[in-house]
Amino acid sequence: MASGASIASAPSLLLFILAFLSCSRGIALVNAITVYYAPGQNPTSTSADVASYTGAAAYNPTTLDPPALPNPMPQLSLNFNLQSNAAGMSIPQSGAFLGFSVEMSVSNQILGKNSTILQVPFLNLLATIQQRSGSVRVRVGGNSQDTASQVASLDDGKVLEKDLSGVTNPTQTPPLVFTPDLLYMMRNISDFVNVRWFIGIPFNDSSNFRLEIAQSAQVILGDYLIGVQAGNEPDLYAAHLHRPTNYSQFDYVGEVASLINDMSQTPDLSVAKNLLLIPSVSGTWTPEQVWDTGIVDALSSNIAWLSVEHYPTDNCFAEFGIGSPVNVTELWPTYLMHTSAQSLVQPYLNSTNFAQQKGKPFIMFETNTASCGGFAGVSDVFGAALWGLDYGLLMAASNFSGAMFHVGGESVYYNPFIPPPTNQSTFRQWTVGPVYYSALVIAEALGPSNVSQVLEVGTESQSAYTPNYVIYENGQPVRMVLINFLSDSSGNSNYTANIQIGGGQTGQSASIPSQVKVKYLTASSVSQKGGYTWAGQVCALKSLKILVMASHVLFLPSIQTFGSNFESDGRLEGTEIIETISCDQTAQICSVSVPAPGAALVFLTDKSTETAGAASTTFATTVETRTINTATVDPSVLATSNGRNGSLPMGSSSKGSANGQVVGVREYMSGFMVVLGVGVASAIGLLMRVV
Ligand SMILES: *[C@@H]1O[C@H](CO)[C@@H](O)[C@H](O)[C@H]1NC(C)=O
Ligand SMILES: *[C@@H]1O[C@H](CO)[C@@H](O)[C@H](O)[C@H]1NC(C)=O
Ligand SMILES: *[C@@H]1O[C@H](CO)[C@@H](O)[C@H](O)[C@H]1NC(C)=O
Ligand SMILES: *[C@@H]1O[C@H](CO)[C@@H](O)[C@H](O)[C@H]1NC(C)=O
Ligand SMILES: *[C@@H]1O[C@H](CO)[C@@H](O)[C@H](O)[C@H]1NC(C)=O
Ligand SMILES: *[C@@H]1O[C@H](CO)[C@@H](O)[C@H](O)[C@H]1NC(C)=O
Ligand SMILES: *[C@@H]1O[C@H](CO)[C@@H](O)[C@H](O)[C@H]1NC(C)=O
Ligand SMILES: *[C@@H]1O[C@H](CO)[C@@H](O)[C@H](O)[C@H]1NC(C)=O
Ligand SMILES: *[C@@H]1O[C@H](CO)[C@@H](O)[C@H](O)[C@H]1NC(C)=O
Ligand SMILES: *[C@@H]1O[C@H](CO)[C@@H](O)[C@H](O)[C@H]1NC(C)=O
Ligand SMILES: *[C@@H]1O[C@H](CO)[C@@H](O)[C@H](O)[C@H]1NC(C)=O
Repeated sequence: MASGASIASAPSLLLFILAFLSCSRGIALVNAITVYYAPGQNPTSTSADVASYTGAAAYNPTTLDPPALPNPMPQLSLNFNLQSNAAGMSIPQSGAFLGFSVEMSVSNQILGKNSTILQVPFLNLLATIQQRSGSVRVRVGGNSQDTASQVASLDDGKVLEKDLSGVTNPTQTPPLVFTPDLLYMMRNISDFVNVRWFIGIPFNDSSNFRLEIAQSAQVILGDYLIGVQAGNEPDLYAAHLHRPTNYSQFDYVGEVASLINDMSQTPDLSVAKNLLLIPSVSGTWTPEQVWDTGIVDALSSNIAWLSVEHYPTDNCFAEFGIGSPVNVTELWPTYLMHTSAQSLVQPYLNSTNFAQQKGKPFIMFETNTASCGGFAGVSDVFGAALWGLDYGLLMAASNFSGAMFHVGGESVYYNPFIPPPTNQSTFRQWTVGPVYYSALVIAEALGPSNVSQVLEVGTESQSAYTPNYVIYENGQPVRMVLINFLSDSSGNSNYTANIQIGGGQTGQSASIPSQVKVKYLTASSVSQKGGYTWAGQVCALKSLKILVMASHVLFLPSIQTFGSNFESDGRLEGTEIIETISCDQTAQICSVSVPAPGAALVFLTDKSTETAGAASTTFATTVETRTINTATVDPSVLATSNGRNGSLPMGSSSKGSANGQVVGVREYMSGFMVVLGVGVASAIGLLMRVV
């Protein structure tokens, strides 16, 4: 969705101030004023526009109505009594638990052009996570790795090229050629941000493995190489016509053994051959079918990771005519319940237990809301951020050792982040999707200590709409994540967690702190597209509807967010708001409210994890993004902007419709604010500090 700017009429501003003043939550100092369409409610995306939308999937404007509230409603007040060293805590988890899987064929758009032209927003997005977690895991691979081959060089300094004429399989992944400079690009990224990489061996021809990528990776990435995938979804090779129909897990195991044999006889693989990640099955074979071949014991010294890949469902019928059609209206509510995460994790509980017995980490190597691109209005809305948060934390609580959200490029709906289409990169910025926010919150929830252990709590009383997790360090509860999937703009479905620590019948003395700090992940509804806030101003968002209805012109105070489509340079922008909640010392209870919809990260001690992993670092933009402003306005929208005469600007989401120069919202607005300032600055001076 394009962002638009227009001049507010006085009544709308007044309304905004009233709405802002009547907000019950804390007062914010606002650094800047930015004008947005109501996120996800772009007034130009009428059904006709949605129906006629022909642009890339990644920016599809389709939204669905939030699901109706359940009847009966779940209990909206739950009690937790947190104990030290509680039974069932997970294994110690890395703050880098949630990483990203970048489809190899789009790696030259996401990571950079080559080793000398890096994508600065990508660096910033990863640095934002690193500062919380200490490091970030990124995989370059996917279906497109299996037919990739290394060449010495390509024209024009390119690191990757697709052979579009060679498309032969149902998921339409073209054979790739890449140069060693792809690995130099990855290495150069790790010089800026502590990124640890997974790569994959091309597996299309197991009688003649092309090992060059692993050789280049070992030599160039050094310690930054942490895993080498052997086979990507081998259980689908037969279905995708890459192997005979009788291809079995025994054949696969034989191929891995033969790969190790080849690697042992090839130079520059002494490290890489012991970093193998297997078997990355996607559900056609169960992991047990592979474990039961004995592969993990037989090849133990070569195997560094046990892996699976899985998506809850697929959109292959709509995309490729495979399988059966999905009714998205019926599918959508299933993502907004804890039962989604439970059904995704349950089939792997035996395997996480098996992995612990074998002393290997078990990782969900590729996942997202749905394969074959995901679904418009499901994969790209706030509900997916809550879904990803719940799913990620349940995996951590269930002894997975990591999970990777897939980045598929502009033809998919589910991207955690994506650059603008290449011919728009000089005047548009990146789009940050919902599951990036899930990863961000999990990084901050787990922190960089390596001793965080996760426990799902309140299972006896929580509802499918309000899952909750405790994070322990050294056996003590230090943080909680509380999730509310309900979407109710009335505020009546907010949920209250009443937290006690120790005490009760446990013999431990109760020790509730005098106050706790809370950060919220929020949006106006589960259907909101873009502009979600992390530790941003909650109540302003709640005023959104009134404002839009009042005048179709919206002023939001600057809120900590990555903005809407095409608005991010990878840095969180806006004022951070950390709420302080006083605890009842007499009753020994801290009561934390969780908005509907939203999530709360509760800090039970005064230890912050926001910059515990690394100093906050941001990278200057380069030739690739020629503006220092985070929020940019499509100039064609400005040109046709008619806020002056009271109707709506005509923004467009279609990628072909924009042209011209960048205009920074802030610059554009600052002139306006000077004029406005004369009249109303005194009234709003306490609330807003305008830059
Ligand atoms: C990136 O890699 C190249 C190798 O192609 C190297 O010469 C260069 O110094 C690196 N750049 C940075 C910024 O580290
Ligand atoms: C494997 O992929 C390579 C590179 O695309 C191709 O040249 C080769 O013919 C393929 N081999 C098989 C057995 O499919
Ligand atoms: C990267 O691409 C640019 C632009 O095409 C080129 O000038 C530069 O030499 C390339 N860098 C490398 C290491 O090939
Ligand atoms: C699988 O099928 C191939 C022919 O497609 C055949 O050569 C091979 O023997 C079969 N393997 C088994 C185990 O049946
Ligand atoms: C758990 O996994 C092990 C190893 O594959 C297998 O032997 C066992 O049957 C599995 N148990 C269940 C209940 O699936
Ligand atoms: C999808 O499901 C909804 C709710 O059950 C129903 O009203 C609608 O007709 C269905 N749409 C299609 C295309 O079947
Ligand atoms: C995770 O592993 C720990 C330690 O082995 C165990 O106590 C706990 O029950 C496991 N959790 C699950 C959900 O399997
Ligand atoms: C956590 O583990 C990582 C990877 O092993 C290591 O680099 C880092 O130093 C550890 N952090 C702490 C605080 O021990
Ligand atoms: C629900 O939460 C929102 C956001 O924190 C808040 O603005 C609203 O006042 C709350 N409503 C009620 C009834 O507590
Ligand atoms: C008012 O808005 C209409 C519709 O976009 C536009 O065509 C017209 O030029 C605008 N008039 C002024 C005075 O800005
Ligand atoms: C960008 O490329 C697309 C596809 O080739 C084209 O339709 C569109 O008009 C181009 N947009 C601009 C602004 O050049």
